[in-house]
Amino acid sequence: MKIKDIFETMEYGPAPESADVAIDYLKSHKNKFQLFINGEWKAPSSKENFDSINPSTREKLAEISEANEKDVNLAVKAAKDALPEWVNIGAHQRARYLYAIARQIQKHSRLFAVLESMDNGKPIRETRDIDIPLVARHFYHHAGWAQLRDTELKEYKEIGVIGQIIPWNFPLLMLAWKIAPALAMGNTLVLKPAEFTSLTALLFADICKQIGLPNGVVNIITGHGKTGATLVDHKDVNKIAFTGSTEVGKIIRRATAGTGKKLSLELGGKSPFIVFEDADLDSVVEGVVDAIWFNQGQVCCAGSRLLVEESIAEKLYKKIRKRMESLRVGNSLDKSIDIGAIVAPVQLKTIEELVQQGVDEGSKLWQPSWACPQDGYFYPPTMFTDVSPSSTIAQVEIFGPVLVAMSFRTHKEAVKLANNTRYGLASSIWTENINLALDIAPQIKAGVAWINCTNVFDAAAGFGGYRESGFGREGGKEGLYEYMKPRIHEKFSDKPVVKKPKDLKAPSTNGQHVTGIDRTTKMYIGGKQVRPDGGYSTVIKSANGEYIGEVSTGNRKDIRNAVEAAHANSTWGSMTGHARAQVLYYIAENLAIRKEEFANRIVQMTNCSKTEALKEVDESIERIYTYAALADKYDGLVHHTVKQNVTLAMPESLGVMAIVCPNESPLLGFISTVIPAMTMGNNVIAIPSESAPLSATDFYQILETSDVPAGTVNIVTGKKDELAQVLAKHDDVDAIWYFGDKAGLKDIEYLSADNMKRTWGNNGKYRDWMDKEQGEGEEFLRHASQIKNIWIPYGA
Ligand code: NAI
Ligand code: MG
Repeated sequence: MKIKDIFETMEYGPAPESADVAIDYLKSHKNKFQLFINGEWKAPSSKENFDSINPSTREKLAEISEANEKDVNLAVKAAKDALPEWVNIGAHQRARYLYAIARQIQKHSRLFAVLESMDNGKPIRETRDIDIPLVARHFYHHAGWAQLRDTELKEYKEIGVIGQIIPWNFPLLMLAWKIAPALAMGNTLVLKPAEFTSLTALLFADICKQIGLPNGVVNIITGHGKTGATLVDHKDVNKIAFTGSTEVGKIIRRATAGTGKKLSLELGGKSPFIVFEDADLDSVVEGVVDAIWFNQGQVCCAGSRLLVEESIAEKLYKKIRKRMESLRVGNSLDKSIDIGAIVAPVQLKTIEELVQQGVDEGSKLWQPSWACPQDGYFYPPTMFTDVSPSSTIAQVEIFGPVLVAMSFRTHKEAVKLANNTRYGLASSIWTENINLALDIAPQIKAGVAWINCTNVFDAAAGFGGYRESGFGREGGKEGLYEYMKPRIHEKFSDKPVVKKPKDLKAPSTNGQHVTGIDRTTKMYIGGKQVRPDGGYSTVIKSANGEYIGEVSTGNRKDIRNAVEAAHANSTWGSMTGHARAQVLYYIAENLAIRKEEFANRIVQMTNCSKTEALKEVDESIERIYTYAALADKYDGLVHHTVKQNVTLAMPESLGVMAIVCPNESPLLGFISTVIPAMTMGNNVIAIPSESAPLSATDFYQILETSDVPAGTVNIVTGKKDELAQVLAKHDDVDAIWYFGDKAGLKDIEYLSADNMKRTWGNNGKYRDWMDKEQGEGEEFLRHASQIKNIWIPYGA
C-alpha cells in the first residue's frame, strides 16, 4: 500500500504490546503452577493439571493444578492456623501489608496487564487502563480501612476464615474486590480463581510471598467447579464470597443453608441502558460501546438491554450500526483493537446458540460487514432490534458482545421494561434532563444507576445487586460489613431468653379469659381483620396450660392474600422518613395508653410477674421511639469517587418483607423485628410468636388507630414454620427474617434460593430482646434495606 492510499483509507496496522514480560514470568514457573498454600508452592494431591490457554491464539500458556478435597483441607487449615496471629498483629500492621500489595501491583502493572490480557483475551488497553489501576486503587482504599478498623469500626470483629470463588471476566479485579476487604477486616482466606483464568491470581500469590505476608493469610487454590464446591462445604470456612453465574449462586445458597456461614453473592445481570429522546446521542453511542463491547460484553453489569424512546430509536440504531462497523476485533495484545477474544470455546458456543435463538424467535440481527480473525475465539459486535420483551435474548444473560434493543413510548413504559427482568444489578440512564434522570433512578430495581455514564467503578462505592443478581456489596464501607460481624453477637445466648415464670401452680390469667363470649381473633390483612381461609383456629394456652383464647390458623391462601395486600400498598414506601416517624410515634403513643392491658396479656401468656410484663411494654414503647428517631436519620452517603462524578449511596427499602417473629418476648419480639422493617419503608407480613401470639393480635387495634396505611403491616397467625416456608418460597416476597431455631432457619435459607431472597436470622442463637444492645440498632435497619449507588455527573 502506498502512503497516499493510507491517507485515503486512514487504515492503520496492528500495534502489538510485547508479550515478553509475561512469557518470562511463566518461564520462571516452568509454565507449570502449583497451589499456593501456607506461603508455599505445593504440588496438588490430585496430581492432575489442566491447561490455561490464550483465547486470542488458542496457544497453551501454562499448566494449572487441580486442587482436590485434600488440598482444600490443607488450604483451609493454613488459613485457620494463620488467623490468631493475623488478628493479633493489629490494624496498623495489616494496613502496611495492604499498602505493600498496592505498591507491588503498581510496580508490576505492566506484567499484570499483559498476563491478564493473554490469559483472558481482554484488550490490553482495558487491562492497562482499567483493570490493573482499579486493582491497585482497591488495595490502597482498603489499606485505609485496615488502618481505621480499630477506631471507626471498633464495634465489629473479623469473621474468620473466608472462602472466595471468583469468575473469569475480571480475574485480578475480582480477586482484589474479594481479598482487600477480607484482609483489611482481619480475616484470612482461601481463594479459588476461575479455571479459565488463574494466572494473575498465581502471580498475586508471588507478590504475597515477596512482601512477606505471613504464611497462610492468603491461600490460592486452582481448579474447576468441584474444587469450589468443596471449599463451600468445608466446615471451618466461616463465610463464602462468590461472584459468578446465578445458577451456581443458587447452588451455593442451598449448600450453605443452616450452616451459619455468612454469604455474599454477586451474580448475573441483564441491565437496562435507557435512552430518552433528549439524550446527547453521540455520547450515547460511545456509552453503548462501553456498556456492551467493553470486555467483549462479558460483564455482569453490561448494559445489554438498550431501551430507547421510540421517537429517536431508528436514528440511534443507525448511529450505533455505523460505530459498530468501525470497531476492531483482534488479538488482545494489539493496542489498537476495541474488542478482544471470548474467554473460551464453551462461552463462544453459548453466545452463538443464544444469537441463533434470537434469530429463530424473529428478532432482527445486525453485525458489521467485516469478518473476525480466525486464529482465536472471536465474536463480532452484534445488535438485535425488533425484540419482544419476553423473548429469550431479552431475558437471558448472554455474556457476550450482543446488544438487544427495544423501544418505549412513555416514561412509565421505560421503567416497566427496565424492571422486566429477574435480575437487578445495574442500570444506565441517558437524558439531558436532570429531573427526568433523578425521577427514573429510584424507580429502577437495581443496585447501581449510572446517569449519563456506564460501567464506572471505584473502590469507595459499593457494588452489588437487587433480586436474583445476588446480595451483599463489594467496595466502600458497605462492602466491609460482609467481612466483619458485630461484637455484640458474642453475647447471644444458646437458648431463648425468657422471663422467669411466677409460681407455675398459680393461675396466670387474673380471670381475664372468663368472658363467656367465644372470641377467636382474626388475622390482619390489608388493614382489615379477616377470617382465615381454612376456617380453623388454634387454642392458645398460658405458660401453665390454661386455655386463654384462640387464634386463626393461617394457611397458604392467607399468606398469598397478605403478600398481595403488601404489594398493593405503595403509600408507605413513598413517605418521607419524617412522615414515617410521625406514624411510629403515634403507634408508641397508642401503646402507652393501653400499657396495662398489654402487660396483663403478657402475664397471661408467659406467667411472668406483672412488673416484668410492664417492663416489656415500656421497653417496646422505647424501642418504637428509637426507630421513630432513626427514621429520618439513617441516611445514605455521598462518595467522592471518580472525577466529574459523585456517587449517592441511597438506602432503599427491600419491598415486601416477611418477618417470622421470635416465640419469646411476645410483644417486644414483635416490635423489635416489625418496627425496623417498617422504618425503612418496607411492607411487612409478620408471623407472630406461635405460642404467645395474642400481643400481636391485640396490636391490630393499635395499627388501626395509628394512621398506618392498609397493607403496610399484615399479620398471619398459625403454625410458624409452616407459614414461614410458604413465605420463603413465595416469589413476590423480597426478604425474610427468621427468629427461631437453627433447623427452621435452615429451611428458610434453602427455600429462599429460588428468587434469591435476602434472609436474616440468628443462626441458632438467641437475642435478649430486653437488652438494647442486642435488641435494636442500625444492624436491623441495614438488614431491612439495600443500597443503590447512583452515579451523577458533578463538576463536569
Ligand atoms: P460459573 O458460575 O460456573 O463460575 C464461576 C466460578 O464458580 C468459577 O470459579 C467456577 O469454577 C466456580 N464454580 C462452578 N461451579 C461451582 C460450584 N458448584 N460450587 C462452587 N464453585 C463453583 O460461571 P461459568 O460457568 O464460568 O459461566 C457461565 C455463565 O455464568 C456465563 O455465561 C455468564 O452468563 C455467567 N457468569 C456471570 C458472571 C458474573 O460476573 N455475573 C461471571 C462468570 C459467569
Ligand atoms: Mg486462559
